[in-house]
Order: sequence, then C-alpha cells, then structure tokens
Amino acid sequence: MEKFYAVIGDPIAHSMSPVMHNDLFQYYEMDAHYLPLHIQSENLSDAIKGLRACGIAGFNVTVPHKETIMAYLDELDPLAEAIGAVNTVIHRDGKLIGYNTDGTGFLQGLKNHQPQFSENKILVVGAGGAAKAIVYALAQASVSHITIANRTVNRAAQLIADCPYDVDMRALTLDDAAHKLDEYDCIIQTTSIGMSPRMDEKPLNLNLMREDVFVSDIIYNPFETAFLAEAKAKGARVQNGLEMFVYQGALAFELWTSQMPDTERMRRNVEQQLG
Ligand code: ATR
Repeated sequence: MEKFYAVIGDPIAHSMSPVMHNDLFQYYEMDAHYLPLHIQSENLSDAIKGLRACGIAGFNVTVPHKETIMAYLDELDPLAEAIGAVNTVIHRDGKLIGYNTDGTGFLQGLKNHQPQFSENKILVVGAGGAAKAIVYALAQASVSHITIANRTVNRAAQLIADCPYDVDMRALTLDDAAHKLDEYDCIIQTTSIGMSPRMDEKPLNLNLMREDVFVSDIIYNPFETAFLAEAKAKGARVQNGLEMFVYQGALAFELWTSQMPDTERMRRNVEQQLG
C-alpha cells in the first residue's frame, strides 16, 4: 500500500518540502507520497489523532508546532528532548517518535565546508529556537568552544544553562561579541534579521572579523543576506541556509526510509523552487 508522509504547519503553502520529498520518492521508486497539511494550533490535537488513525508513516513539523507537538508523541530522541523541539516524526509500531534534524542538518552542511569544525572557536549569533537546535547539535558533536551572542544576553545564558552536553560555552551581548570578533574561526547567524521585510539590517558589526573566517547564515531567502554579503566582501568564506534546509530534509528522509538521499539532487530541486 502507498505510504503517506506530510509536513504540518501554519502557514504551510510555501513549504518546499513536499516537492523535495515527492521528487525523492519518485527517484528512488518508492510507493509513497508527501502532503502539505495546514494545521492551526487549536486543531493540533485532533490532527495528530487523525494522522495516527490514517496510518501516516512519518511527518515533518514546522512553525508554530515544533514545541507543542512534543506533548502528543510517544517517544522522543534525546537530542530533540534536549532542544525542546521536534521537526521530524516517525510512526513505527503504533508509536509516534520525535526527532530534531535541524541542528544535525546544519552540522552536515557545515562539515562540507569546515571539516575541522570541532576545533573551531565558534560564535553563534542569536539564542532562539534555531540557535538552540544548532548549539546543542554542535555540543553533541564535541565542539571545543561555543560563544552565543544575543540581543537579550540572559536568553543566551539560559540556553547554555539548559544544555545537557559538557562543552565550554559562554554568553555575550552583540556589542561584546563585535569587540572580540577576531577571536572566532566560524560565525553562525541564526536570527531572522536580514529576511524580508528587514533585508537591509545586520545583526552584528563585522569590522573586527578576520579574513580567514567561515561565516554561515541560516537564511536562504534572500539567497544572500546583507550580513553574508558584507562577510564575503571582507574575504570570508560563506554559506547560506540552503544546505541546512536540504540536510534537515535528507536526515528526515533517512529516518523514514533508511536511505540517505542524493543531497545534490535535493539542492537543485530547492534552487528551482526558489526560482
Ligand atoms: P527562531 O525560532 O527562528 O530562532 P526566535 O526564537 O523568535 O526565532 O528567536 C529569534 C532570535 O532573533 C533571537 O535570538 C532574537 O533575539 P532576542 O532573544 O533578544 O529576542 C533575535 N532577534 C530578533 N529580532 C532581533 C533584532 N531586531 N535585533 C537583535 N536580535 C533580534
């Protein structure tokens, strides 16, 4: 029987996941289909019951359900539990099991450019949900040193206090991080600054950035934020958020099917959808 998968969120119309996963199912000749499902928060509980009853094989979870979904699942992967958010669910033997592939997806993309990342002094800009997924995945991968700079420094300190992995971490204000920028080998931008409608804004002053640094911005629309453009102009190697999106999807696909998909194919597919 055809298996079915989905992504649940609100809004959901612009999700690129259905086209990306359906292309993979077709390419690997799997009898499966992936649907976008517009689920509002007040309907989440009923929706999960319905998905269970329909025998869904697995699903992705996006805004605003990544945290609230956890109450409806039977088991949580330890990393998802530490992050406090789930973006991928497997339905196996009647159980819904939650995972988070956002941070591990980011890490896979980072390894393509920074194979020595675990020895890097890393600066993460932002301390929201995306930052937490990335920082905990980095910490789980035994990165030696992580600094988190955030407008609200207490939020960065809390993220560190809640981290179950034993890594050298500290919290800074954005200004303090800007004044010590030459200390960092790798800068990861996780805030929404630079997205429409705030395309001209930048989260951090890059004046003291070294030239041999690697800079990653998790935004991919626009393809190059003002922040990434400035880093590139100053000589940094840069990466936008496309790889994180592709790899979080690839790792979800692998959890569901045990097949690691062709990430180059996925990237081309997403680039086509972005136009
Ligand atoms: P997400 O889940 O996408 O990471 P979030 O949890 O709302 O979203 O986190 C947004 C991040 O962007 C936070 O680090 C936030 O800083 P605060 O914790 O101080 O709010 C940061 N951010 C958003 N708008 C900002 C702005 N105008 N200047 C600086 N930081 C900003």
